[in-house]
Parts: sequence; C-alpha cells; structure tokens
Amino acid sequence: MKFLAISGSLRAASHNSDLLRAMARLAPADVSVVLYRGLGDLPLFNPDIEASDPAAVADLRTQIIAADALLIASPEYAHGITGVMKNALDWMVGCEAFVLKPVALLNASPRAVHAQASLTEIVTMMSARIVDDASVTVPILGSNLNEDEIARHPDISAVLQSALRALRAAVLATRLERQ
Ligand SMILES: Cc1cc2nc3c(=O)[nH]c(=O)nc-3n(C[C@H](O)[C@H](O)[C@H](O)COP(=O)(O)O)c2cc1C
Repeated sequence: MKFLAISGSLRAASHNSDLLRAMARLAPADVSVVLYRGLGDLPLFNPDIEASDPAAVADLRTQIIAADALLIASPEYAHGITGVMKNALDWMVGCEAFVLKPVALLNASPRAVHAQASLTEIVTMMSARIVDDASVTVPILGSNLNEDEIARHPDISAVLQSALRALRAAVLATRLERQ
C-alpha cells in the first residue's frame, strides 16, 4: 500500500515536512509513505495553460492517482493554507485525482485552526474522502521536535501510528466497496 505525503511548506527545516517524514518511519510494514517533492516546481495555476498539461502538474497528478491514500499537512499562513498548497490543489481540481481518494489531514500546530478548516473545506469540495480518525493535530511547532524526535516521542508517535492505521483501514474499506 502506498501513501503520498504532501507538505505545504517549502522550508528546508519545515515542521510539517518533518511530521510527514516521521510518519513515513512509523508506517505499518505493508505501507510505504513517499514525500512529494515537487510543490515548488508547479507553475502558478492558470486555466489558460491547463490544456498544455505542464510536466510538473502531470507528475503530481500521476503520483496522486498511483497512491492509495494521501497525507496532507500545511502550515497556517495568515489564517489560511499556504499559497503553494492552494496552488497545487487548484491544479488538481479539474483532473479529479482527488475524487474518492482517502485523505488524512495532519496538523502540526493546535493554533492552526483556520488552515485546517480551510484544507478540510477544499479537499471535501474536491470529493476526496477525509478520514477523520487519521486526521490528527499534534503539537510539533510548540515543542520544536525534529523528525527523529517526533518518531521517538512516545505520545506523539502513538497518535501518528494510530492515524496511519486508520488511513490503512480506510483504503482497505474502499477496496472492498469497489469489488
Ligand atoms: C507569512 C506567515 C504567516 C503566518 N501566519 C500564521 C497564522 O496565521 N497562524 C499561525 O498559527 N501561524 C502562522 N504562521 C506561523 C507558521 O505557521 C509557522 O511558522 C510554521 O512553523 C510554518 O510551518 P513549517 O515549519 O512547516 O514551515 C505564519 C508564518 C508565516 C511565515
């Protein structure tokens, strides 16, 4: 089973990316979590160039379609999700890559309520299946934990492993429905 993880931060030392990388280490044995690295390569969304299918957009779409589920984590910027995350999501609206895709929305900051609410609204509008039990808020920003410390933290790693198991279960349930 393959999960694609998308961080809404381009920062090298991003807490959101660290959170997703820690989840890759905590994943069940039959799940591989791959971090998407192309967010900064996407052109700015423009409906006029949609038909030309820019290579970076096609690559993101291919990776999403190939994934059994998505893990999404975005920082909050000015009470919204980041521009780069919104840009990526706008590119995916027309191609329906999100339709019925099980998605976990991870939040690295209990303060980031607006970004999480906005992400929930957008991804719901895109007809993805948000998996509530897999969508958790963990206090990474306040504690300044790095990837290794997140993966080793007894309480946080337990919450993240539980989220991963819930997402895995949602994928299995989706497969059964489609049979
Ligand atoms: C331009 C900008 C705006 C921000 N606005 C908010 C905000 O509205 N609410 C909030 O809780 N944090 C806000 N922050 C703090 C970020 O969410 C925080 O720095 C977070 O660590 C960024 O995630 P990252 O470590 O994954 O890059 C803002 C940061 C920046 C740079």
